[in-house]
Amino acid sequence: MLRPYRESDLEAVVLLFNDSVHHLADKHYDKDRLAAWAPQPPDLKRWAARLASADTWVVETDGKLLGFIAYEPNGHIDLLFTSPAHCRRGIASTLLRHAETALAARGISMLFTEASLSARPFFERFGFEVTEEQDVQRRGVTLRRYAMRKWLVS
Ligand SMILES: CC(C)(COP(=O)(O)OP(=O)(O)OC[C@H]1O[C@@H](n2cnc3c(N)ncnc32)[C@H](O)[C@@H]1OP(=O)(O)O)[C@@H](O)C(=O)NCCC(=O)NCCS
Repeated sequence: MLRPYRESDLEAVVLLFNDSVHHLADKHYDKDRLAAWAPQPPDLKRWAARLASADTWVVETDGKLLGFIAYEPNGHIDLLFTSPAHCRRGIASTLLRHAETALAARGISMLFTEASLSARPFFERFGFEVTEEQDVQRRGVTLRRYAMRKWLVS
């Protein structure tokens, strides 16, 4: 079931993020990079603010969180993560389709994101193109990511 994020989802969302980074992105980033991307313990206050300030939606089944997306009114897809136990079952597709429809209805003509190495094929499948390869500094290590965008046709 797709539904809006609630404050009570905070811990489950952060756990899913951590799990996803360590078990889905581990084919593309070494241990130091994964630790820099998903540091322990997580800063829950910062997470709460980030999720609350975005349009955040989750997919849930039987009370279990399977994935989440956070997007901004300007078309920015800030976060998109699926639980490793439930990947390749269309969960991220459901979340991104929702964001695309909602943003298009508000007159947004372009979606953009910064995709990890592991997420790039997913976004390409959805029609995003790479506009720039970026190396960002996180806690003393360099993380490669891709600025990507997708034009929405009305
Ligand atoms: C990227 C991610 C969100 C995809 O989630 P998902 O729920 O598994 O994606 P879907 O099942 O909706 O995938 C739809 C299609 O995208 C493509 N795709 C998804 N993951 C892929 C992968 N790892 N490699 C290649 N193609 C992929 C496939 O075409 C897939 O269709 P198929 O399964 O029928 O072949 C998920 O793997 C994830 O959380 N990754 C780790 C964290 C991350 O990097 N998040 C994004 C930060 S920007």
